[in-house]
Amino acid sequence: MPLVDDIVRLKREKRAIILAHNYQRPEIQDIADYVGDSIELSKKAMDEREAELIVFSAVDFMAESAAILNPRKKVVLPTLGARCPMAQMLTVDEVKRAKTLHPNVPLVLYVNSLASAKACCDICCTSANAVAVIESLTADTVLFGPDRNLAEYVGEKTGKTIIPVPEWGFCPTHLLFQPEDVQIMRMQYPDALVLAHPECNGEVRKCADFVGSTSQMCRYARESSARRFIIGTEEGLLHRLRRDNPGKEFLLAYEGAVCPNMKLNTLDRLHAALREEKYEVRVPESIARRARKALERMLALKT
Ligand code: 13P
Ligand code: SF4
Repeated sequence: MPLVDDIVRLKREKRAIILAHNYQRPEIQDIADYVGDSIELSKKAMDEREAELIVFSAVDFMAESAAILNPRKKVVLPTLGARCPMAQMLTVDEVKRAKTLHPNVPLVLYVNSLASAKACCDICCTSANAVAVIESLTADTVLFGPDRNLAEYVGEKTGKTIIPVPEWGFCPTHLLFQPEDVQIMRMQYPDALVLAHPECNGEVRKCADFVGSTSQMCRYARESSARRFIIGTEEGLLHRLRRDNPGKEFLLAYEGAVCPNMKLNTLDRLHAALREEKYEVRVPESIARRARKALERMLALKT
């Protein structure tokens, strides 16, 4: 039986749902029940009632958030090694050090962080709501990690003092975008609009007409009357942008912008994940309880 048909059969038999991030391979996006950015996927996982099994095609921290937010469901990640390197850049020791150095300063953690780090923070955020989360706090000084670029971006937008933890956390894929490449493309395609993810550096963000999460970029492109867009985020988003906007043209601002961790998930691994219900994501309840508070506080905000 062809692989895709067998995935559909297994999904039905196991009462499973496939959630896929916007950076997943095209063939995975096409077979998924839902494709979205990290906050949309968290909400989907949290609200899921029918399915017994959630196959989370993305990287570790996203599947962990799903397991934390919906502990009654079995959540599996198709590839054991699909880990976000940015999340690994912030250890619990570093978090504790920052909190000791800056007592009484609230700590906001980007969801791209380990569950054990989230358990120590006051509230989480994603790239879609980071500005609103910071604005929701009364404090004028905020500890923020692990992404230095997102920290700078929210500082610019809110006018608050943002202390990055660690000092230089970054996404290795978004680091590849450089302002020179964007400027050259702008000269080549003067009619194009530039959309960038806030994980890009400040110079790239300055070149952009719009800065937002992956799904916010999709919305912007759909609603815009422009016909051509230069995209500053991981290449997987282009599949969704092209599929949703057949009459529009999408160009990647740097051809090599591929997240190797996101791309570890393949149809074969998705099939095995469904068949063998692996690899189950489990977060110890002592950590999950505290991390859930920080995630739920974020999700309760009207953004
Ligand atoms: P989004 O929440 O915008 O989808 O971003 C997640 C991510 O990992 C970006 O690199
Ligand atoms: Fe992590 Fe960057 Fe990959 Fe997003 S694109 S999952 S931040 S390494």
